[in-house]
Amino acid sequence: MVCLFYNILAIVAAMYSLFDVNYFVRLLFTTLWRRIIPRKKKRFSEDIRTYGFCTTNDVDFFMTHMNNARFLRELDFSRIDFYHRTGLYEGVVSRKATVLQGATTVRYRKPLPIFAFYQVTTRLVYCDDKAIYLEHKFITLSDNFVRAIAISKQNITGLEVTVSELISIVDPESLQLEAPEDLKHWLEYINASSEKLKKSD
Ligand SMILES: *[C@@H]1O[C@H](CO)[C@@H](O)[C@H](O)[C@H]1NC(C)=O
Ligand SMILES: *[C@@H]1O[C@H](CO)[C@@H](O)[C@H](O)[C@H]1NC(C)=O
Repeated sequence: MVCLFYNILAIVAAMYSLFDVNYFVRLLFTTLWRRIIPRKKKRFSEDIRTYGFCTTNDVDFFMTHMNNARFLRELDFSRIDFYHRTGLYEGVVSRKATVLQGATTVRYRKPLPIFAFYQVTTRLVYCDDKAIYLEHKFITLSDNFVRAIAISKQNITGLEVTVSELISIVDPESLQLEAPEDLKHWLEYINASSEKLKKSD
């Protein structure tokens, strides 16, 4: 019995040293949770909210606030929830399409303190023929302050329709979205960056 216990402990320790186990557990949990307890479908015009707590796993060298990389990691879970809650998940999976993160930008406004509860809101702000653009806000629950704001570009490939068409199939009442001013600049940046690399290749 004791021997079995040590074996299991050794396997768990090995898994933790080789994989980011918490990441996979949470991905699985987030997905299963949505399968087991389906909630009312969200429109693309609505915010999708997920919640988090800044733990000792999330902090940086100073041990007082969330490190920069954790914000991006957190967005993986928010995006999964976005796909499930809006029905875009079925839309993509049923067409055997592939989703890849094409670009992300984060603007850190104020540190997110250790042991703080926060909310991440995700909303579709724009789509073109090849990608969707999501805006995410990290908001601390104690003061409702937007600690960080991020935009993600999600490339969706392998569809027979354009990404904009897919969006209107999944939510027929969704409106044609006009790119917000800040996003327009970011799109220009992406083009310029892409051109620069093409020249240097
Ligand atoms: C995402 O799509 C853009 C074109 O829309 C392309 O330049 C970029 O390489 C793609 N990124 C990935 C990771 O597929
Ligand atoms: C980026 O370049 C593509 C063509 O490569 C063009 O269709 C698009 O309008 C450009 N977007 C911006 C914001 O400049």
